[in-house]
Formats: sequence, C-alpha cells, structure tokens
Amino acid sequence: MTERAPRNTPANRTRLAKPQLGKQRAESRFLADVLAGLARPAKALPSKYFYDKIGSDLFDRIAELDEYYLTRAELAIMEADASQMAETIGPHTVLVELGSGSSIKTRLLLDQLAEPAAYVPIDISGDHLAQSSLRLAAEYPSLTIKPLEVDYSAPFTLPPTPGAARTAVYFPGSTIGNLPRADAVIFLRRLVDLCGPRGALLVGADLVKDRAVLEAAYNDSAGVTAQFNLNLLARINRELGGDFRLDQFEHRALYNETAERIESYLVSRERQTVHVAGQTFQLAEGESIWTEQSHKYTLESFEALAVDGGFAVRRVWTDPARWFSVQYLEPVA
Ligand code: TRP
Repeated sequence: MTERAPRNTPANRTRLAKPQLGKQRAESRFLADVLAGLARPAKALPSKYFYDKIGSDLFDRIAELDEYYLTRAELAIMEADASQMAETIGPHTVLVELGSGSSIKTRLLLDQLAEPAAYVPIDISGDHLAQSSLRLAAEYPSLTIKPLEVDYSAPFTLPPTPGAARTAVYFPGSTIGNLPRADAVIFLRRLVDLCGPRGALLVGADLVKDRAVLEAAYNDSAGVTAQFNLNLLARINRELGGDFRLDQFEHRALYNETAERIESYLVSRERQTVHVAGQTFQLAEGESIWTEQSHKYTLESFEALAVDGGFAVRRVWTDPARWFSVQYLEPVA
C-alpha cells in the first residue's frame, strides 16, 4: 500500500465513499427522545444531540479554551506517545474512529500507523463528517477513507475491508465518560463485537482531579460552554418546532464528588411553559434539565469498567500532570 495519488483526482474522490443518509428516521428518533426526556419527573435530554453543525463547531471552540484542559492534555499525550500507540496497534489495521468530529488527534495517530488498511470515521453529524473527510483525503492521498454517518450509540456494521489485519477502534475525547456506567459497560461489550477477538480499543479517559479545575473546564469564563449547552434547546426549536426561550435558561455544571462526574444542567430562570411538536411542558423556577454527565476516572475505576465491558487494559499513557489518559485495551477471550 505505497500507492500515491495527487490531490483531488477522480480516483481520490471515489475512495471517499458518500456518508450514508437516514435523515427522516434520525429526526423522528430525536423527537421521540426529546419528548420522552421532557416528560420525565426529572427532566433530561440526551447529550448526543449536542452535535449538529453548530454544536460541533461550538465544541471545537470549547476545545480551544484555556479552561478546557482535556483536549490539550490529550493532544500532548498523542504528540508524545502516538508512535508507541501505533506500534502497539500494528500494521494493516482498519482504524475506526467514533465521533470523529474534526479528527485532529487522529492525524497524530495516522501519521504513525504503518500502512493502515482503511480509516472509518464515524459521526452523527453528516456535514461535519463530509467536510473533515474531504480535508483528510487531501492530506492523506493514499489512505482509504470510508466515512459512516451513523449514531454509534446504536448497533451498526462496518464497511468490509478485505485483507486487513485487524480492527482498532479509536474513541478519543473521554466521550465514554458521557455514558452512565451501566451503559458504558454495554457499549464496551458492543465494541468487543465490533472489533472482534483480535481487535483493539484505544480510548481517552479523563481522570479525577481538583474540583476547581474540573468545574472551570465546564463553566468557561467566555461562556462558550453555556452556548454549547443552550444550543440543544436552539436545535429543538430549529428542527422540532420547539419554542424554548434561550434567555430563560442558565447553564450550570457541578462536580458530583461521590459519583465522580461533572453534571451539566439547563436551569429554568422562571416558572414557564414550553411547547415541542404540539406537546406542552411546565418548568418551575429553578427546575433543571439534565443534559450531560462527564465521568472522571481513577486508573483503578477505569480498569474495573474495562473489565466489566470485556476488555483488559494493556497500556496506559498519561500527561505529566496525570490529568488525562489514553488507554489501550484488548478483548479478553
Ligand atoms: N464530551 C465532552 C465532555 O464531557 C463534552 C462537553 C464539554 C460538554 N463541555 C461540555 C457537555 C459542557 C456538556 C456541557 O467533556
């Protein structure tokens, strides 16, 4: 696989398969999830809907904030240790990335991987996926890219890649921490099935640290995180005909020390009524809608999670401050 092709040739374009579309189904799922979440006694909205085009762009801005140490720490780890990771993963591997976004960390890994069989970026946001895949195709002309527009939180199948040595799933960004623990276990077991018994998982996991550092990361002073959280309501307005008044909600993020997680909420500033798709919901003053949880791990708690999910932790890389970790897992037989 030492083939080289100039940028933007027709050959290059055919290697970049079109993302699969299922727009209508996705929209009715979104509506069903929103209505169910708002009907609960403790209102909650699923965080996977943060990431439309606007939300994905806002998250890219969060990643650049001084207070949001996660991305910087993880990038530092990738810069220092991607060559070791690539060596551990081995040659002719299909690299599957979950929630690929703009694939910045992936470049560091791709630069080190020996003759990857294919790169399969997976994202719920088709626009973001198409854009970043095009850019990546231009930068890595000999790389086979097979973008997949799916919601990876539900089962899906990978495109066939004949001749590949193994499948390695790359799941950066500590997104696994956004799942409740029981769901994270189920999710990991599905990844065992996805990558197969000879596969691997390279996963980012944020580590337990000082409350002040954690809360600043999720309550940035520029208010970008607030915008990001509120975009969920804006998106419901745009796509589902909701009438949320964004200025009547406040972003709040708190570290729950017992559960070792940041909890993000949208808090109603006043008693109010909102409508979504013809349904009415009441909110009391100070009532909150839970939108996200971001679990923080110790090396021990993450290992216990991995084991419950059918994996063994084989290697761990951290930044010098031990704020973040990238962990290499293999399925246990
Ligand atoms: N996966 C990111 C995290 O948990 C998403 C995120 C960053 C986020 N900031 C947020 C989610 C604020 C909700 C609110 O770190």
